[in-house]
Amino acid sequence: MKRPGADHAAVTRLADKVLRGIDWQALGDVYFHEDGAALLRAKQAAVLTLGERLAKALLRAVPRGGASLWVGAGLAELPVLLAESMLHERTVVAANLRARECELLNAALAAAAPDVAVRYLAADAAVAAPERTFDHLGCISLFTDPETWPVLSAVAYGRIAPVQVDVEKFVAEREQARTLARSLFARLSWPGLVTTSAEEVAWFLELADAAGIVAEPSDTMFETAVVGDPVGFLSMRDAPTG
Ligand SMILES: C[S@@+](CC[C@H](N)C(=O)[O-])C[C@H]1O[C@@H](n2cnc3c(N)ncnc32)[C@H](O)[C@@H]1O
Repeated sequence: MKRPGADHAAVTRLADKVLRGIDWQALGDVYFHEDGAALLRAKQAAVLTLGERLAKALLRAVPRGGASLWVGAGLAELPVLLAESMLHERTVVAANLRARECELLNAALAAAAPDVAVRYLAADAAVAAPERTFDHLGCISLFTDPETWPVLSAVAYGRIAPVQVDVEKFVAEREQARTLARSLFARLSWPGLVTTSAEEVAWFLELADAAGIVAEPSDTMFETAVVGDPVGFLSMRDAPTG
């Protein structure tokens, strides 16, 4: 059941309450290491406005009562996770390898939104909630994460000249990323939706093509608050037969 009286404005108010309860000093250290708290706090308003915009678009595209697997979800995704749970009765599994970030966000969620079923899971998304599949995969600025894949990230953002690429490292990272993309893709049910950034959509297009799945990109893109990558949707469905 949708929460009585809940709408996007109510979700944004609650997200704001969660943000106000965050230990910014500690979270700033996780994200930016230096001047982190100030840099991150400056993004607070954008987290709310851009998050609400993405949440509205996502809820138009996914069914009520379904389930999302968010991979590498952090602060930027918070309003979207809340909207899915509060307005669309959806199950949200939000996995992130940064245990400290999960701990800090969960502490703020527990204080401000104790009865909303949204918490971050400090785990590899490939093995999170193994008992189920998902009709939506949220994967924002994951395959471009400089901490996890420094070479892939540098190539994806055009930060490195071809002559400087360590080819062996590049190939090793690409295989790791492909393995992760494959295992995430395997958890998606059909028809399904993928929310992802322009820089990493090719990981999913490659898999859809190999599986004979139609992957239709959305026309509209959305900015994200922390990394700032443009994000859109890929609708995945079986190719027509005959
Ligand atoms: C660049 S951050 C992006 C955070 C957030 N999605 C955003 O757009 O602001 C990438 C995140 O993905 C996480 N990550 C990398 N591999 C992962 C995996 N296999 N499962 C879950 N999280 C992962 C990292 O720990 C990091 O927190």
